[in-house]
Amino acid sequence: MAFKKITAADITYFKAIEGITGVFTDSETLDICAGDETEDLHYLPEVVIQPETVAAISKIMAYCNNEHIPVTPRGAGTGLSGGALPVFGGVVLDMKRFNKVLNLDKRNLQVTVEPGMITQELQDYVKEAGLFYPPDPASKGSCFIGGNVSENSGGPRAVKYGVVKDYVLNLEMVLPSGEVIWTGANVLKNATGYNLTQLIVGSEGTLGIITKIVLRLIPAVKHDMLMLVPFRKAVEACEAVNAIFMAGFTPSAMEFMERDALEWSMKYTHATGVALPDDIEAHLLIEVDGNDMDVLYKDMEAIAGIVQQFDIDEVLFADTHEQKQMLWTLRRKVGEAVKSNSIYKEEDTVVPRAELPELLSIIKRLGKEYGFQSVCYGHAGDGNLHVNIVKGDMSDDDWNNKLTEGIRKLFTEVVRLGGTISGEHGIGLVQKGYMDIAFNNTQLKLMKAIKRIFDPAGILNPGKIFAD
Ligand code: LAC
Ligand code: ZN
Repeated sequence: MAFKKITAADITYFKAIEGITGVFTDSETLDICAGDETEDLHYLPEVVIQPETVAAISKIMAYCNNEHIPVTPRGAGTGLSGGALPVFGGVVLDMKRFNKVLNLDKRNLQVTVEPGMITQELQDYVKEAGLFYPPDPASKGSCFIGGNVSENSGGPRAVKYGVVKDYVLNLEMVLPSGEVIWTGANVLKNATGYNLTQLIVGSEGTLGIITKIVLRLIPAVKHDMLMLVPFRKAVEACEAVNAIFMAGFTPSAMEFMERDALEWSMKYTHATGVALPDDIEAHLLIEVDGNDMDVLYKDMEAIAGIVQQFDIDEVLFADTHEQKQMLWTLRRKVGEAVKSNSIYKEEDTVVPRAELPELLSIIKRLGKEYGFQSVCYGHAGDGNLHVNIVKGDMSDDDWNNKLTEGIRKLFTEVVRLGGTISGEHGIGLVQKGYMDIAFNNTQLKLMKAIKRIFDPAGILNPGKIFAD
């Protein structure tokens, strides 16, 4: 793809636009926007622009569209598929000034928010009003709601409450042409034309710049209870997940952690208070929530009864708020802990839930065949397993070549099981080479045609989702 390089005249143009906080070309700012949380990738933009009005974004887009300058929108940079990396340089549109709640509609249980608000801050804000926005990616303390919408994020609570797409009602966005549209209406039901809102959710910043987000909320939930169950066989932990759902329970979280995941996170967070006997291969972290404590006690007891049928050690029931916090911190920090331990690649496989034991066995078998070590953890209740492949003592040649073959084999097996190659991290840059496993040519042609309708000049977040 041939894009225009940014000139001094372009910078002068950008600086003259009203409603812009800053136009940055200093190496420090460019460097920050060159990476995200995906492996150790680094792609320098030529300029970082921090707009603060929709009109300013509209001007920037129209200009870049005419001049054929690539634009990559950026949230908090916590992505795990390289979605925010400016692989062709150009402009990074830093959305951090769009950080306000615009309207909390208590009568309709809706909130209109700008994309640069931190997800946790939004959750705390609506909680003050007795309301609940459930999606809770591991990075909720730093990620932006706009990034969550762009990647269709999930998190532990998705198993009961659904993912981001289940809460997005309507979006305001700026098209590459500079035109501003709303995608739908602020309603809970909508059978009016094509569903543009849901097309934009998960489109990874490739179709337009999201500037306002209308979310549906639910009433706050009063209580939760948490337990950690140690399994001697990791595959049995996966089997237990299914047994719990088959028995009629829907926990508010059902997280799986292989031994290494928990052990590395314990070291990383300096946690104490969790025993990790030598014969334990994996844990399930199970949470139930609701408004009636008696019901929750009964559910916890029943679930404890179900897991007892497997080869488990002593269950840890979190008694205090602090203990719950500690267990959740351990779970949320697994990704960071693995990253701090070794060079790694993170896969985000998802299969129909009952196929999870099979998926885990396949991962371990392929690891032996292709010589890789893996640390698996994730949202077992959704059939969503994060497979962290650690480089360890693998040679550079095997890491760069043989491993790609191994990952292709893994994704092929995932699709054979009825699953797909990303559950919540997106395709972005690092998974685009595998899209042909999930979709055939006809399907890919449809998707690329959609991209061309929104972005005929191909300037918006180029180099993402599609291999060519
Ligand atoms: C998690 C992130 C990596 O579940 O999705 O921890
Ligand atoms: Zn996750």
